Amino acid sequence: PRSYWLLRCGSRRRLPLPAAVNRLWSEAAGSNAALASAPKHIEHFSKFSPSPLSMKQFLDFGSINACEKTSFVFLRQELPVRLSNILKEINLLPDRLLATPSVQTVQSWYIQSLMEILEFLDKNPDDHRVLGEFVDALVTIRNRHNDVVPTMAQGVIQYKEVFPQDVGTNQNIQYFLDRFYISRISIRMLINQHTLIFDGTTNPVHPNTIGSIDPQCQVADVVQGEAAKSLCDQYYLRSPDLVLQEINHKKRNHPISIVYVPSHLYHMLFELFKNAMRATIETHEKRKELPPVQVLVSLGGEDMSIKVSDTGGGVPFRRIENLFSYMYSTAPAPQVGDGARPPLAGFGYGLPISRLYAKYFQGDLQLYSMEGYGTDAVIYLKALSTDSIERLPVYNKTALRHYLVSHEADDWCVPSREPLDLSGFKSSD
Ligand SMILES: Nc1ncnc2c1ncn2[C@@H]1O[C@H](COP(=O)(O)OP(=O)(O)OP(=O)(O)O)[C@@H](O)[C@H]1O
Ligand SMILES: *[C@@H]1O[C@H](CO)[C@@H](O)[C@H](O)[C@H]1NC(C)=O
Ligand SMILES: [Mg+2]
Repeated sequence: PRSYWLLRCGSRRRLPLPAAVNRLWSEAAGSNAALASAPKHIEHFSKFSPSPLSMKQFLDFGSINACEKTSFVFLRQELPVRLSNILKEINLLPDRLLATPSVQTVQSWYIQSLMEILEFLDKNPDDHRVLGEFVDALVTIRNRHNDVVPTMAQGVIQYKEVFPQDVGTNQNIQYFLDRFYISRISIRMLINQHTLIFDGTTNPVHPNTIGSIDPQCQVADVVQGEAAKSLCDQYYLRSPDLVLQEINHKKRNHPISIVYVPSHLYHMLFELFKNAMRATIETHEKRKELPPVQVLVSLGGEDMSIKVSDTGGGVPFRRIENLFSYMYSTAPAPQVGDGARPPLAGFGYGLPISRLYAKYFQGDLQLYSMEGYGTDAVIYLKALSTDSIERLPVYNKTALRHYLVSHEADDWCVPSREPLDLSGFKSSD
């Protein structure tokens, strides 16, 4: 298409696609016959709304009635529904972003994975071989989608380099990527639960986990922050201490635990620690003693909140919203597949992706900063497993309207930089 050509000509710097991406792309193009029927299936499955599961349902799937057959029958319908819903939204991206090789690649992965799951629709759930093949198929799919985030980020960078940005397009891309990445988190959650529970082994390190969920996730254990500290030590040769305080309003003086996915919690805290440590070191460069990063964990009746406080100089209020933007990310282009990124500042997705992990189970992540002093980052999670229900995007007319409405015109005055000349208003007395 014309736009793709434009993009390639205009690009100042062409980012090479990793070999694996090119190979998969040509594999997908090779099986054209199967792919030709994809739009029909996407149309069909996108008419269903995804079914959000609660933490309790996830646990039941894996414990009381750990029935592989039930899980199989559920997933062979639910995964196509989630894949098709988000595929419909990919199609609504601006043409010139959709046409980038990176986004095309991601789209082809989604279509291929959808078609692979559909193979199981007419298979017999009572056949053990079928169940085994399904687990293998899910593992293949999970691996295929490992690099979705950096690949998609590359598409956005390629697009940004060539086309002047307008507010409306930025908002659409932000809206899309938040939904796309949360959908991805949810699909991986479903796949992980099924493959971990039904591959016939128990987790030797954490025997009590159910798939990736820990029914008694000790928050203090995850807060250790050793990984962030050692990364920080490697890069800056020093690191601030973490000071932890717990306040359990439900059971005084008991360590706080919730039903949660430890890897999600770990991911969020790791990102917040990296940011807090980096800000602390860069602000207090000349000081011998670094002020510590304070972590406060509090459990109430409804919320379990974690506050990470630093004295790293803070961020101007005006910039806070942009810190969560995929388009305003200031970091240099990530090099997919080579590990040579600066460790404490990657490609600027730390905060937005962490916020999505929090939102996925009805929580949130917010920043409260005071420029000149420091920043508080607060993670809000649901204290009760009955409140922790997947938050999933659904493709319907409401979503469609978001992409079609243009946000181009502002309805607030532009402040003037020139002092207003009031001489014309002078009264004549
Ligand atoms: N605690 C903080 N104090 C001061 N600035 C912060 C803090 N947290 C985030 N920022 C600012 O927000 C920006 C975006 O943070 P974010 O974690 O999303 O991306 P990053 O740290 O640049 O890269 P990545 O996290 O992907 O490695 C940072 O580059 C930094 O300028
Ligand atoms: C789209 O789905 C959401 C969630 O199910 C619902 O609240 C909304 O009313 C739907 N919109 C339309 C136009 O059907
Ligand atoms: Mg970061």
